[in-house]
Amino acid sequence: MSDNHIYPIFDTILQPADKEKLLGQKAKVFWMVGLSGSGKSTLARALENALHEKGYKTMLLDGDNLRTGINNNLGFSEEDRTENIRRAAEVSKLFASSGLVTICSLISPTAEIRQMAKNIIGEDWYEEVFIECPLEVCEQRDVKGLYAKARAGEIKDFTGISSPFEAPENADIVVNTAEHELNESLDLLVNFVEAKIKTS
Ligand code: ADX
Repeated sequence: MSDNHIYPIFDTILQPADKEKLLGQKAKVFWMVGLSGSGKSTLARALENALHEKGYKTMLLDGDNLRTGINNNLGFSEEDRTENIRRAAEVSKLFASSGLVTICSLISPTAEIRQMAKNIIGEDWYEEVFIECPLEVCEQRDVKGLYAKARAGEIKDFTGISSPFEAPENADIVVNTAEHELNESLDLLVNFVEAKIKTS
């Protein structure tokens, strides 16, 4: 037997495309951006339910939830928000790599932070969804009571009040929740998303 130092590899590394084929869908990351109270999480949950009903395999990542687990050591300084988004983007990429339609709901307040997420996830997978709603409307809704606390100085670095929010200028889709009812917003989103993930 010759000693030629050849180590043949018989198995090939499975690619995301193999997993997409098995699942019958295209993988994507829908990165939902917007102020606290804009309706991101509500729409993200409704979107995931609607896609699930249609037979798509999904994963939902929400800033509030991630901050109780993988990101539970992070606050709301610019540095911590950057790390928050970096980890969320890396995790989303892993889910998309397994062929899943991944929906992320995080404020993602600056253009720089969103560019980082896009760079991590990759242009082919990253779809930016701006859930637009004027600050006054978010503040009026104040579902979690956080705007009142921020105005009273009980919460510091609050997005839109004492910490910046730069509205996305190049989002792939903009859904204005002050102008549309929830069901209308959801229909817009589902149509946009389904066109990106269906295979035929
Ligand atoms: S991000 O800026 O880093 O993208 P993320 O989406 O994870 O934020 O978390 C935002 C959620 O944290 C809000 O929906 C709100 O419930 C809560 N929160 C608590 N403190 C703040 C704060 N200072 N600024 C914004 N959101 C806050």
